[in-house]
Amino acid sequence: MSNVTEHATQKRERSIKRWINARFPLQEFWTKHLTHYFAPRNFNFWYYFGSFSLLVLVNQIITGIWLAMDYTPTATEAFASVQHIMRDVRFGWLLRLMHSTGASAFFVVVYLHMYRGLIYGSYRKPRELLWLIGMLIYITLLLEAFTGYVLPWGQMSYWGAEVITSFASAIPYVGKFLVVWLRGDYSVSGVTLHRFFSLHVIAVPLVLLGLVFLHLVALHYVGSNNPDGIDIKTKKDAQGVPLDGIAFHPYYTLKDLVGVVVFLMIFFWVIFYAPTMGGLFLEAENFTPANSMMTPAHIAPVWYMTPFYAILRAIPNKFFGLSAMAAAIALMFVLPWLDRSPVRSIRYKGTCSKVAIVVFVICFIGLGYVGIMPVSPVLSIMAQIFAVGYFAFFLLMPFYTSLETTKPLPERLTS
Ligand code: HEM
Repeated sequence: MSNVTEHATQKRERSIKRWINARFPLQEFWTKHLTHYFAPRNFNFWYYFGSFSLLVLVNQIITGIWLAMDYTPTATEAFASVQHIMRDVRFGWLLRLMHSTGASAFFVVVYLHMYRGLIYGSYRKPRELLWLIGMLIYITLLLEAFTGYVLPWGQMSYWGAEVITSFASAIPYVGKFLVVWLRGDYSVSGVTLHRFFSLHVIAVPLVLLGLVFLHLVALHYVGSNNPDGIDIKTKKDAQGVPLDGIAFHPYYTLKDLVGVVVFLMIFFWVIFYAPTMGGLFLEAENFTPANSMMTPAHIAPVWYMTPFYAILRAIPNKFFGLSAMAAAIALMFVLPWLDRSPVRSIRYKGTCSKVAIVVFVICFIGLGYVGIMPVSPVLSIMAQIFAVGYFAFFLLMPFYTSLETTKPLPERLTS
C-alpha cells in the first residue's frame, strides 16, 4: 500500500472512531476494562476457568439457537426430532454434541473456577457479593441443565423429571400442590416438556446472562484476587498503576487465548472420540424414547448433580434428605462469613485449613461417585460418611480458621 492510501485509510479509521466515541463510550470502555485494567501479575493455571466459562456460555447459546431451529418440543415428536438433528440435518450431529458436551464442560470449568475461589479465598472481603452472584449463577446453571436434559425426551429425561419434580412433594402442606403446579399435569407429560422448553431457551438463559453481566461488573469494581490473596492496590507507582499489576490487554487476553486453544483441543477430542463419556455425559438409557409405563431400573441425575443427590439419598427420611441437600448448597452461599482466617490464600493458611480442603475434595468427589451408582448398603454408609465430611468442612470452618497459626504475608506478590 502506498503512503498516500495508507494515510487516507488511517484518517478514515480515526474519523470513524471519533464519530462512534462522540456517541458511545467505546474507547472509554476499552481503556477502562482492558488496556488500563490492571490485574495481578501472578495469575496461574486456576485463573483460566473464568474465561473458559464465558467461552462455554457463548458455545451453549450459539449451538442452542441452531438446535432450536430443528427441535420440536412435543411429547410425540421431541425424541424423533433429536434423531433427525443427529442423522439428517447437515452438521446437526456436531451442533448437538457441542451442546451436550458443552453442558458437562460448563460444570467442569465452573467447578474448577469455584475451587480456585475456595483455595485462594476469593470470596473474602471485598468480594463477598462477587461470590454470591457466582452462587446464583451456579443455581441458575443447575436449573438450565435440568430443563435441558428433559428435552431429548428419552427414558432418563422423563424419569429424571419425574423424580426431581417429585422432590417438591416433601414440602409440608403445599408439597403435593407444588408438584402439579411445576409439572402442569398430574404426572410429567407433554405439558411439562413444553414449559421446560420455554424455560430452557428463554427464561433461564436471560437470567443467566444478566447474572454473568453483574458478576463481571462486581469483579471489575473490586478487582481480581490472586494466588497470594494480598491486595495489589495498596502499592502503586507515580502514575497510580499497581506495582504488581499488568494490563489485562494484551497480557491476559493473549494468555487466555493460549488456554482457549488447549481447551478447545480437549473439548473437540471428547466430541469426536468420547461424546457419551462412558455414559457420564449422555446416559445409555436416554437413547430409548420416554415411556411412562416402564421405569428404568436405576435413575440418577447427570454427574454434576450427583454430589447433592447423594446427600439427599444418604438420609432415609424424604423431608430431612431434601433439607440436608438444600443446606449443603446454602452453606456455600454463606462461605464468606464462615472463614475467619486473617489470610485469604491457602498458601498462608495453617495445616488445619489444608487438611480440611483435602477432606472436602475427597468427600465432594466421593458423594458424586456414590450418587451415580445404584443404591447399596455399603454405598449408603459411604454417602453418610462423605456427607458428614462435607458438612464438617463448612460448619467447623469458623473454628479451625480462627484458631490455627498462619504464615506471615509477603509485602508484594511472590511469583
Ligand atoms: C457462567 C458462569 C461463570 C462465568 C462466565 C464466570 C466468569 C468469571 C470471570 C471471567 C472471572 C475473572 C477471571 C477469573 O478470575 O477466572 C471470574 C472471577 C470470579 N468468579 Fe466467576 N464466573 C462464573 C461462575 C462463577 C461461580 C459459580 C462462582 C462461585 C460461586 C464464581 C466466583 C468467582 C470469583 C470469586 C471470582 C474472582 C476470583 C479472583 O479474583 O480470584 N464464578 N468469573
